[in-house]
Amino acid sequence: MTFTRRPDGELLIEEVSTSDLAARFGTPLYAYSRAGIESAWHAFDRALASRPHLICYALKANSNLAVLNLLSRLGSGFDIVSSGELARVQAAGCDVSKVVFSGVGKSSDEMATALEAGIKCFNVESLNEIDVLASVAQAHGVVAPVSVRINPDVDAGTHPYISTGLKENKFGIDTTAAIDAYRKIADSQHLEVLGMDFHIGSQLTEIAPYQDALRRLLLLCDQLQDQGIKISHLDLGGGQGIRYRDEQPIDLTSWAAAINEVLGDRDVEIIVEPGRSIVGNAGILLTEVRYLKHTADKNFAIVDAAMNDLIRPAMYDAHHDIVPVIEPAVGTPVAPIDIVGPVCESGDTFTKQRAMPPVADGEMIAFRSAGAYGAVMSSEYNSRPMIPEVLVDGDQFAVIRPRPTFDEMLNRDKLPEWMQD
Ligand code: LLP
Repeated sequence: MTFTRRPDGELLIEEVSTSDLAARFGTPLYAYSRAGIESAWHAFDRALASRPHLICYALKANSNLAVLNLLSRLGSGFDIVSSGELARVQAAGCDVSKVVFSGVGKSSDEMATALEAGIKCFNVESLNEIDVLASVAQAHGVVAPVSVRINPDVDAGTHPYISTGLKENKFGIDTTAAIDAYRKIADSQHLEVLGMDFHIGSQLTEIAPYQDALRRLLLLCDQLQDQGIKISHLDLGGGQGIRYRDEQPIDLTSWAAAINEVLGDRDVEIIVEPGRSIVGNAGILLTEVRYLKHTADKNFAIVDAAMNDLIRPAMYDAHHDIVPVIEPAVGTPVAPIDIVGPVCESGDTFTKQRAMPPVADGEMIAFRSAGAYGAVMSSEYNSRPMIPEVLVDGDQFAVIRPRPTFDEMLNRDKLPEWMQD
């Protein structure tokens, strides 16, 4: 079990006391469970077992090298969106031939680096990008493997900021332009048609949008087949939602059955690009209550984590369960409280009027479901150094990204020569 309670109410991550982690490494602090990450990955692998498949973990969700390394040991591939992410995959010792490269704005330098590294496929998103990729491949004397990201115009029913498969979104090539895009690729000596892909959004809880999108892609595959263009893999993106509060996440076995039903006996490799569903519920953010503040209208708990450490509530109005590290006795009454950070913005609010058991100054609390899009979206706003990340494995734990010192933070800035007197 990833997170459990000791008989005295203490929150454990695997076999490790969260209070102990907080005492050793200070708060705020991200902690991840290796078993939690691995079991989420295996759930995809099991669900897709009846077909040739490749799980390309979307490392934008959590790109710590230790996380990448442990997934690579399971045989995972990776979905990258920048040369920086490619550098991470390489530094973590992962197999670059299992990398797909997504993103609407790849530069020619990024394409060149990925071609030299020998990635599996470029997921292209515009006709202009196809031209640039062809000329980069030509300059390198190689043939670039290509998949076209189709914008299937389906409503994934998720938050508008993380919905990507609608016509109005900037992503992908719409179905009417797709055949021309494939013709362009097939006609180029420097490009090779490999696959077709979509990614319709994030934190999806319905299976039907995946089926709808896949049906639209299969129609295109059939048209291409008639023109002698063969699609060897279908990449269904990521987007599987997790339970933050009371969502009913997609059951992967039912999801895979629904996908297989649409695919029938087609002979294609399936690629998936899950991010959140692999790491989201395997991580927590530990934070200490600094001050309780009572005003005429409200109660506030000011904690030592802030919007720069976990931006999801400020940015998407996202809900994270917040639990005391030491569970209060059964029947302890709850009362509404605002939990806020120390940053000088009203937006630095994690939750408003949350029903919580009473917390005290100095008490440790944990934000659940913080393993995805937490550390990776953090910043040093208010000159708050990035917070440490810790990986737990059974009774072992290790810091996988230390808290930088002030010197490390400050030494990245430079005074211009003419101001050094
Ligand atoms: N593939 C592509 C092309 C993507 O753009 C994304 C996520 C994924 C895969 C992985 O999606 P996932 O399985 O994690 O849903 N920062 C937001 C989420 C942004 C997702 C962006 N794209 C959040 O904190 O909710």
